Amino acid sequence: MRFQTIFVAILSLIVGAHAYWLEQISHQGVAPFAGSGYAVFRNVKDYGARGDGVTDDTAAINAAITAGGNRCGKGCESTTQTPAVVYFPAGTYLISSSIVPYYFTQLVGDPTSRPVLKATAGFQGFGMIDGNPYYTSDLNWVSVNVFYRQVRNFVIDTTNIAPGTAATGMHWPTSQATSLQNIVFNMPTTSGVVHVGLFIESGSGGFMSDLTFNGGATGASMGNQQYTMRNLVFNNCGTAIIQLWNWGWTYINLQINNCGKGIDISAGGSSDQDVGSLTVIDSTFVNVPVGIVTAYTSSSSPATAGSIVLENVSLQNVPVAVQGPSGTYLSGGTTTITAWSEGHRYTPSGPQSAQGAITPNSRPSALLGSNGRYYQRSKPQYETLAASNFVSVRSAGARGDAQADDTAAIQSAINSAASAGKVVFIDFGLYRLTSPIVIPPGSKIVGEGYPVLMAAGGYWSDISNPKPVIQVGSTSGQVGTVELSDFVVGTQGSTPGAVLIEWNLASSGTPSGMWDVHTRIGGFTGSQLQVAQCLKNAGSSAVNSGCIAAYMSMHVTAQASNLYMENTWLWTADHDIDDAANTQITLYAGRGLYIESTNGPVWLVGTAVEHHVLYNYQFANTKNIFASELQTETPYFMPTPNALVPFTVNTALQDPNFSTSCSGVAGNCAAAWGLRIVNSNNILIYGAGHYSFFSSYSTTCSTVEAGETCQSRIVSLEGTISNVNIYNLNTIGSLSMINRDGTSLASWSDNVNTFAANIAVFKSG
Ligand SMILES: *[C@@H]1O[C@H](CO)[C@@H](O)[C@H](O)[C@H]1NC(C)=O
Ligand SMILES: *[C@@H]1O[C@H](CO)[C@@H](O)[C@H](O)[C@H]1NC(C)=O
Repeated sequence: MRFQTIFVAILSLIVGAHAYWLEQISHQGVAPFAGSGYAVFRNVKDYGARGDGVTDDTAAINAAITAGGNRCGKGCESTTQTPAVVYFPAGTYLISSSIVPYYFTQLVGDPTSRPVLKATAGFQGFGMIDGNPYYTSDLNWVSVNVFYRQVRNFVIDTTNIAPGTAATGMHWPTSQATSLQNIVFNMPTTSGVVHVGLFIESGSGGFMSDLTFNGGATGASMGNQQYTMRNLVFNNCGTAIIQLWNWGWTYINLQINNCGKGIDISAGGSSDQDVGSLTVIDSTFVNVPVGIVTAYTSSSSPATAGSIVLENVSLQNVPVAVQGPSGTYLSGGTTTITAWSEGHRYTPSGPQSAQGAITPNSRPSALLGSNGRYYQRSKPQYETLAASNFVSVRSAGARGDAQADDTAAIQSAINSAASAGKVVFIDFGLYRLTSPIVIPPGSKIVGEGYPVLMAAGGYWSDISNPKPVIQVGSTSGQVGTVELSDFVVGTQGSTPGAVLIEWNLASSGTPSGMWDVHTRIGGFTGSQLQVAQCLKNAGSSAVNSGCIAAYMSMHVTAQASNLYMENTWLWTADHDIDDAANTQITLYAGRGLYIESTNGPVWLVGTAVEHHVLYNYQFANTKNIFASELQTETPYFMPTPNALVPFTVNTALQDPNFSTSCSGVAGNCAAAWGLRIVNSNNILIYGAGHYSFFSSYSTTCSTVEAGETCQSRIVSLEGTISNVNIYNLNTIGSLSMINRDGTSLASWSDNVNTFAANIAVFKSG
């Protein structure tokens, strides 16, 4: 039937090549709440797609996405019950209207030969891939609640569409735990082209990497709360990036070549700027007449909007590096911008309102890659391995039905894979664990569509005796490298002693890594921490002990080192994803991400930690941490109760003691720290958003009019601190933006931005 397929198959036999392992592996994922016979994995060719470049494959691809009856499409709020991994073998798929990935869908192309999605000349739709359609005047899904989806390994091609006809490669207003990776957008390069590669108008994102935009009027036109974007290449675009609005945005290793403009953040104009802040590091602009366009002036409004920090940005033939409304702010040429900012500076006192060169961060060599820039590594996809190199947890006997005790089967799969040098494949499922899973050095583990490993039962019942759920490296000082990707660690029912991920492993040489590995505490079917058990009781300080769900999301212990984390979201649920109205719930998890690695290095690339009681991020007695666009939220129930309950202070873990620190502090002081840094050095943070939107479930506190009174303080530096620098620190709902040993260094009211308050450059000194 398909000569080409047969030919490739024969060729594979001759040269020993093989199709991508994900295509070949047995598909045994189970979605226990989706109904019997529900298929998690779908190969679009099994649904009639031809990929021959001639046949219109739109209906077949959408059939692969929608199959299974209960999927979450038009009018559905959200779900974790009906996941889908929709796989595209190599080929050219002709598309005449939008492909709509439903909630909890991954679209995965063969990374060894990326499938091409090619628009027909008469293509109709807003985005060849429309991640969130407008069936009405509203987006189908509330964009800040769109989680758990990814698109990777595609070529998206609008070149058949007339250059002057509006066309969009992808429409992607989504939020945490989503990603785009390894995608090329091909658009016409004709003058007068109006195509846009990627369009985002809202959401609370996260992360993207390895995207190439060729041609078009605009490569990427984007508005969202915050993002880290890494390895974005723009060739021959009218404007590479238009920023529609944001609070904070960090680009790492941007490469903008032969575009009319680089990044335009002038939306709204000087009197009403829409773009909060922009951080660009380790990037290259080549043959770009104007690098960055801003509406910021000494009298623009809001005062700190349009804040920019640039560090290590190389220019080749870029006459104007930064252009303001009335002329050049920073001239370019062929040079390297070592560091430059506009906006407010605290060094550490301030504000100083300034525009011009700054001293670049002193970067510890431990954080650098071989090319002198900060180390980075994209999520491994194991392209060179065959399906026989994977060990399935289902094949090892795990059930994944949220009921059976799968501890022994999963541990056995991990052990046998490690000893055989294979990769563990966690088929989709909800795997109940009753004792910790130990991950030895050398392990590589990859999930299918975010399977869940869930701590359940008495082992984790003691709030004063924390124990790990997933333990990476034993506590005895193991050395080696581990790679984890694409899965979720959660809990089932009340597990107040659970530390969801404990990282002990020290690595020398290649860093260990975690990519798209998340914690999710409650708020999903199977967690038994939903509306039925933990409905919010706004305004009540009574703690429902059955809703104390975790001790800590993740602990990087003193002996651990050399850990790279990318696109990790540690989330204590504020609402029930599987409730039709996304009803809010009250859960208690003590601590978010605690790093006490004595030596580091640790990289946090596009990470977020939300709704933990004592703190979201805490770094203590550590050094050499790189972070891009940290993002946190304070629990919505605070201050009823506040952070004094239900967790007591564990001094061995350097917990904050609000009984002491809040003495004499006005307002809601005993509230989760967004970020707390104690006795540490070389902590270099490129973008941070620490948000406190609520007071007892009401948002009236988090406005300029109300005086940002949700909590008193949100970022704390304590003890012996050196070389702790934060670029584009954004806070919401906190009176103080940053504290030093209990004294506020900056008030929000001195630093008003679009919705947050912003400090462009903070240096601890
Ligand atoms: C800046 O990036 C270049 C590569 O473009 C690298 O060689 C250099 O070491 C970096 N500089 C700093 C100060 O990190
Ligand atoms: C926390 O602070 C209070 C008030 O100063 C003090 O009584 C208590 O002992 C402290 N707790 C710990 C564990 O240090």
